Amino acid sequence: MAKYRAGPGGAAAGELTVPGDKSISHRALMLGGIAQGVTDITGFLAGEDCLATLRALQALGVRIERPDGPLPGQHVIVHGVGLNGLRGASGPLDMGNAGTAMRLSMGLLAPQSFESTLIGDESLMRRPMERVAAPLRLMGADIRTQSGRPPVEIRGSSQMRGIDYALPVASAQVKSAVLLAGLQASGCTRVTEPAPTRDHTERMLRAFGVTVAQQGATASIEGGQALRGTEIVVPADFSSAAFFLVAGCLAAEKPLLLRNVGINPTRTGLLELLLQMGADIKVHAHRNGTTPVMNGEPIADLEVRKSRLKGIQVSESLVPLSIDEFPVFFVAAACAEGETLVRGAEELRVKETDRLAAMADGLTVLGVQNQLYPDGLCIRGGDGFLGGTVDSRGDHRIAMAFAVASLRAKAEIEILDVANVATSFPGFVEIARAAGLRIESA
Ligand code: S3P
Repeated sequence: MAKYRAGPGGAAAGELTVPGDKSISHRALMLGGIAQGVTDITGFLAGEDCLATLRALQALGVRIERPDGPLPGQHVIVHGVGLNGLRGASGPLDMGNAGTAMRLSMGLLAPQSFESTLIGDESLMRRPMERVAAPLRLMGADIRTQSGRPPVEIRGSSQMRGIDYALPVASAQVKSAVLLAGLQASGCTRVTEPAPTRDHTERMLRAFGVTVAQQGATASIEGGQALRGTEIVVPADFSSAAFFLVAGCLAAEKPLLLRNVGINPTRTGLLELLLQMGADIKVHAHRNGTTPVMNGEPIADLEVRKSRLKGIQVSESLVPLSIDEFPVFFVAAACAEGETLVRGAEELRVKETDRLAAMADGLTVLGVQNQLYPDGLCIRGGDGFLGGTVDSRGDHRIAMAFAVASLRAKAEIEILDVANVATSFPGFVEIARAAGLRIESA
């Protein structure tokens, strides 16, 4: 089983560019696949999750070219087949570890005129899918799950109708699946969210020429609108930059600069949280002092220096805006003075693993006092970490979070079961070493 050994100490510094945004890369492939004409994607994340989406689209009859070859594979050309051009795959579509691939595909495939079966790896086969199946059924879809989990069996129906749906959980994946189905349903589909979540689908649909209206918490879309192939430039993933933002807070005596990071405000909750804790982070707008926007997505360079962090009480409204960053946020909290409390984060229990339990266990091994709640974690910050062996439970973000902890550890941290780091951050070890971490694959 793949593992990391992360030696204690080190100083984070320098300039780096993390790989492309995972959420945006999935969407660029899917929307490119159902667009008319060619979509040219640069900065694509060639991680295992997005490659699962890429292979699924190929199995559904979409021609996709990768002019750079498989590595680094950041340039992808999608030959769209139009809204009605997908063809049934010859077997199940394997979405690997990727929740986004499976959930958004449910919305894409429910209105098609063929059957599809969606499967995934051990982790994905345990994750809840009824939250997507339920609204799609209200639209007329025929979808089966196994006690709420994959395999997901879809009998496509070209007779789906728009609905007015209030999301019970704040989930961008559910919102996106309903909007994608709405694109192919009759009439108008409206989705209202209980709290703002990432809005990449809405922004990218507009980049493909589709009208998506936003009124307060409600996004609406008229069915039958054609997508026009376009150029998509994928920014560096804020969720990958997050590991180095925290690394910088813990150990950047000299500045650490992260280039071309996507700073869509529905993604940057961690920035807000770290600033509340007293972090020294500057957001640099590019040329002429303005923030460049590519395909509706704002981009900036982020500069971070070491600072003394203070514990905070996390506002529940920031939870969906920093949902993927909690593993590394907990590492920052462990190095802050005083207590940090996160509640209202029960969604962390149904990610690639139960991230509350996995972080609580690992922090305890490393000598950090914490209290686990059904919906959160309280961490008593202080002296950094002891050495020890922690189990990432096959979750990429848990593995990378504990790698960052090594910067403030007293002895080596061994991190187990790390192969899935390749789902979101290919080249993590090389970039982390370049930034100053004493990490190696073992
Ligand atoms: C994602 C939405 C979030 C996030 C996931 C990616 C997306 O999931 O955790 O990593 O691309 O839409 P939920 O919608 O379940 O909150």
